[in-house]
Amino acid sequence: MERGKEIYAGKANTLYEVLDDSGNVLPHVIEMECTDRISAGDGDKKDVVEGKGYANNLVSTLLFKRFAAEGVHTHFVSEGTTSSSKIVRKADMIPLEVIGRDFAAGSFCRRYGVEQGRAFDPVLVEFTYKNDELHDPLINDDAAVQLELIDEDDVDTIYVYMDVINKVASDFFAELGLTLVDFKVEFGCDEETGELMLCDEFSQDTCRLWDADGNSVDKDIFRKGESGKAVSDVYQKLVSMLEAME
Ligand code: TMP
Repeated sequence: MERGKEIYAGKANTLYEVLDDSGNVLPHVIEMECTDRISAGDGDKKDVVEGKGYANNLVSTLLFKRFAAEGVHTHFVSEGTTSSSKIVRKADMIPLEVIGRDFAAGSFCRRYGVEQGRAFDPVLVEFTYKNDELHDPLINDDAAVQLELIDEDDVDTIYVYMDVINKVASDFFAELGLTLVDFKVEFGCDEETGELMLCDEFSQDTCRLWDADGNSVDKDIFRKGESGKAVSDVYQKLVSMLEAME
C-alpha cells in the first residue's frame, strides 16, 4: 500500500488516494493525514502547531477503535503510511456537525446565558448545518430531514451512537484524569454500501477537555489567544498522558 495523489486539503486534514502494490488506485478507501495546521473563527485565525497532527491522529485512532468495539460503525480501516495518518472508508459526507455536551461551555453559554459547567445527563445533542456562507447555523433534526440533508433513520441512529460515543470518550478521558466537556463529530454514508458511519475525527481539535484544576487541554487555548509553543504543549500533554498509561 502506498500514498497516491492529494485529493483535498481541508482546514486541518489532507486526504490522499491509496495505491495498491501495482500502483493502481484502490476504490472506496482514502488516506486521511492529520496536519499541524490549526485555525479558528471561520478560518480567520491560523497557525501551525508542531506535533498537533500526530497527537490528533493518535487520540482519534484510539477512540475510533473503542467506538467500533461498542457497536458504532466508523470509517476507520487501518493505520496509514505515516504516524499522523489513517486509512478510512470513502464517504458521502452528511453536511451536519453533531455536537454532544456533558457540561455547558462555549457557544451554548453565549446563546442561552447559561453558566459554564452546568451538567447535562443524558448528553445534550445539537446539530449545526455545515455551510460557510451561513456560518454553520444551528439546525434541528426535523429541518435537517425536511431539507433532505439526512435520512430520518440516520438521525435515529445518530442519537443512539451519540450516547455510546459520549460514554466511551468520557470513560477514556476519565482514565487520564480529564473531564470531557463537549465534542463535535461528523457522519457520512459509505460510498459503496450507503451505510451510516462515524467519520472525520475525535481529537483535541474537536472536543473540550478540562483537567482537575479546570485548565483546558484542547484547542480552546488557541481560540482564546495562545499560539505557537503554548498550544503545542497542550497537545503534547495528552500524548504524554497516553504514553504514561501504556
Ligand atoms: P461550541 O461551544 O463552540 O459550539 O463548540 C462545541 C464543541 O464542538 C467544542 O468541543 C468544539 C467543537 N467544535 C468543532 O470541533 N468545530 C467547530 O467548527 C465548532 C463550532 C465546534
